[in-house]
Formats: sequence, structure tokens, C-alpha cells
Amino acid sequence: MPRPSKKPFGQDGKALDGVRILDFTHVQSGPTCTQLLAWFGADVIKVERPGVGDITRGQLVDVKGADSLYFTMLNHNKRSITIDSKHPQGKRVLDELIKSCDVLVENFAPGALDRMGLTWEHIHKLNPRMIVASVKGFGPGPYEDCKVYENVAQCTGGAASTTGFRDGPPLVTGAQIGDSGTGLHLALGIVAALYQRNRTGRGQKVLAAMQDGVLNLARVKLRDQQRLQHGPLTEYSQYGEGVPFGDATPRAGNDSGGGQPGWILKCKGWEEDPNAYIYFITQAPVWGAICDLIGEPTWKTDPEYATPKARLPKLKAIFARIEEWTMTKTKFEVMNLCNEVDIPVGPILSMKEIAEDESLRKTGTVVEVDHPVRGKYLTVGNPIKLSDSISEVKRSPLLGEHTDEILTKVLGLDKKTVAEIKASGALSAPEKADKAA
Ligand SMILES: CC(C)(COP(=O)(O)OP(=O)(O)OC[C@H]1O[C@@H](n2cnc3c(N)ncnc32)[C@H](O)[C@@H]1OP(=O)(O)O)[C@@H](O)C(=O)NCCC(=O)NCCS
Repeated sequence: MPRPSKKPFGQDGKALDGVRILDFTHVQSGPTCTQLLAWFGADVIKVERPGVGDITRGQLVDVKGADSLYFTMLNHNKRSITIDSKHPQGKRVLDELIKSCDVLVENFAPGALDRMGLTWEHIHKLNPRMIVASVKGFGPGPYEDCKVYENVAQCTGGAASTTGFRDGPPLVTGAQIGDSGTGLHLALGIVAALYQRNRTGRGQKVLAAMQDGVLNLARVKLRDQQRLQHGPLTEYSQYGEGVPFGDATPRAGNDSGGGQPGWILKCKGWEEDPNAYIYFITQAPVWGAICDLIGEPTWKTDPEYATPKARLPKLKAIFARIEEWTMTKTKFEVMNLCNEVDIPVGPILSMKEIAEDESLRKTGTVVEVDHPVRGKYLTVGNPIKLSDSISEVKRSPLLGEHTDEILTKVLGLDKKTVAEIKASGALSAPEKADKAA
């Protein structure tokens, strides 16, 4: 180990300084991963298809002529090079990049990387130290060849069947647990593989399947599946309502996923404001404080209410009584009053409230970024804070913005060679390539 740095914390480079990523990702899952690695200091070179780039550049466009927020918010701190990966000259450039990078990250449809000629064997021969990291919809098995988007993963990973209300259809969640969640999983796999490489000197394949990532996040529901074999799930409100359980973990509405009962309750203004609600947890150790706050002090000692077990069958009525109290206050008033006596609650914050939250701006979790074409916009910064590797959020690259810089500075090609590659059409859209030919 090197001797501990004498430089002040935050001033001795970044966690992943010196790591170079060949970023073949697109849409959301892969870009989430490489954006995190870039925030930790890796040099991320995003390879994009000439003329089009990552498809999200042109999806959900809000400002005409500018890269969409979909793209800009997932591709900060990266450099962009355009290469036609199916063009012979483009393949040669890619081979050189493979030799100069530490990690190749991709989330193409199954088989697409192989069809480009970039098989594991090819990559490993060119650069035995290279880590090849992939997001796929499914791991090996009957569905391994399928293309997958976010909600497919939410459905196949067990999240949708356990989300929603018992008497309604399965629901997907607004949190992108399939895409961004799997990107996070992949980033951890890459960092672990880099660490192992320090010892073994060789790269390896890293696979994060979206179904697996969602299931990992829905772990408690597989827990409940097994508990069902030993009796009803007493903390589910269905138990208190006397509704029998089936043979699979049911949807539990807003029940808490853990051992402390919780529910979403109306607050003052709920009639007009769709987010005037609060998540209220009746944590056992603060039951007395809850009783005092809502004006039911006798519930502290009444055997019908005093113990968690006694309360389980009447949670619905208890939450209705708590709601009578929360409806007399705004969600922030409820939060302040509850926090004073350690009752865990969560106001339902709208995206507007989050965007305007001063404390999130101060921590760099919500960041304003300037972009040469679209102007200023808000993004989510690095949610993981390292005290000695401070993340700065830099705007996403324009399509092919760094092509010349990467060819000359990373690959060390001279001007004549760069001109020849360009003239071959390997770096330009097909129309331009036709003209060049
Ligand atoms: C997301 C997904 C469904 C999108 O599918 P898609 O838009 O059809 O894109 P693909 O990944 O199939 O790639 C399309 C083609 O572009 C080609 N392409 C991509 N970059 C290229 C480049 N720089 N130059 C030339 N061709 C390129 C690929 O080689 C592929 O061609 P092929 O099918 O002829 O081999 C699919 O990529 C997928 O299932 N990925 C894995 C799971 C995943 O990450 N899903 C979540 C996305 S947020």
C-alpha cells in the first residue's frame, strides 16, 4: 500500500483516476453505469453510431435541435467519438481503443457485440487486461436472447407482481429499478473486477442481468414468499382485514416492506394537491409518542392497542385514526412534529418540490448544468458521496465532439492518418460516407 497521502481530502485526484472506459452503452441502463464511473474519475469514451448517436439524443425532445434531457441527464462527464463499428476502418480504430482502455461496457441486444466482431476471445486476445461488462435483460436460460426494457425487467424480476393494490392490476414503479438499478449493479461489478485485476493481472466478463437486478431489489418479497409456507403474513393489512392469502406473495398497497407497519395518509390540502400525503410508520418503540401526538393517550396502556401483536388485526382502523390527525396539518408540519419525538415519517415530495429543494442543491444531489445548445437544466448529480473523491458534474458531450481529440491524444494518430480514416467514411453517417467514397 502507498503511504497515506498528505494532501487535504478531496485534493488528491479521484477514485478511478487512470481508468479508461470504452463506453458502448446506450439508452439508460448502461449509461447510468458509465456516468457513475465517470463521476468517480474514470475517462469514459462513449462510442456512438455516426449521424445518430445514442438513440436517446433524439427521444422525448423538449428543445428543438438540442440533445434531449433523456440523453444529457445520463451522459455527463463523458467524451463522445463517432465510429461505424461495422466499417472495416472503424473496426481497426475500435481495436486500437480496446488496447488503450481498461473496461468495455455495453448494453446492446444479445449477440450484437459479437456481430460487430467484438467477441470476448477477440477482445481478450487484444488486451488480456480488459474487463468486458454487459447489461442484458436476462441471464443464461430460456430468455437470454430477448431484448428488454425497464418495465419488462420490473415485471420479470418480481417487482410488478408485488406492487399495487390487492384488488388492482400489477403496477410498475416510477423509479427505474430495471435500468438505473441494473446500471448500479454493473458499476459495482466493474469496480470489483478492477480490484481483482490488481492481483491477477487479467480482465474478466461482468454480467448484470436486469431480471436479476430487479429481483435483488425485490429480495424481501421472495422472503415473504417463503414465509407464506409457515402461515399468513401478519404485517400485511390483508391479514387484519381477514382476507386469506393465496400461494404467492400478494400486492400489499402501501404496507411497509419491513416489520414496522406503515401507510400513506392524507394531509391538509389533499383535496387539491395530489401530493399532500405522508408515509407514516407506527414503529413499536415510539408507539407511546404516537398515541400522545394524535390524542389517544389511553392506547398506550389499553391491551387492545398496547402491543404490536394486538395492533396488527386493526391497523386499518389505527391508520384511519392517525389520518384524522394528519389531515389537520400539512405534510411538513406532520414531519416536524413527528421528528421531534422520533417517529419516522416521509412526506410525499413532488418532483417540483425536489427540484426546488435547497438542501439537495447544496449537497450536489440536484445540480444545475449549462449546455451550449439547450442552456441551463437540472440534473441528478452523483448520489454516492466520497470524501476524498469529489464529483463535479460536467455537461454531456455533443455527438462526436471528441472524435479528433481521442484519435490524436488517446490513440496518438497523426493528422494524415486521421484524415485517411475520416475519408474512409468510418466515422461519418452513411450519406456522408457515400459521398466520400
Ligand atoms: C435496449 C435494447 C432493447 C435496444 O434495442 P435496439 O434499439 O434494437 O438496439 P440493439 O442493441 O439491438 O443495437 C442495434 C444495432 O445497432 C448497431 N450499432 C450500435 N452501435 C453501432 C455503431 N457505432 N456502428 C454501427 N452499428 C452500431 C448494433 O450493432 C446493432 O446491430 P445488429 O442488430 O445488426 O447487430 C437492446 O439493446 C437490449 O435489449 N439491450 C440489453 C438490455 C438493456 O440494456 N435494456 C435496457 C435499455 S435502457
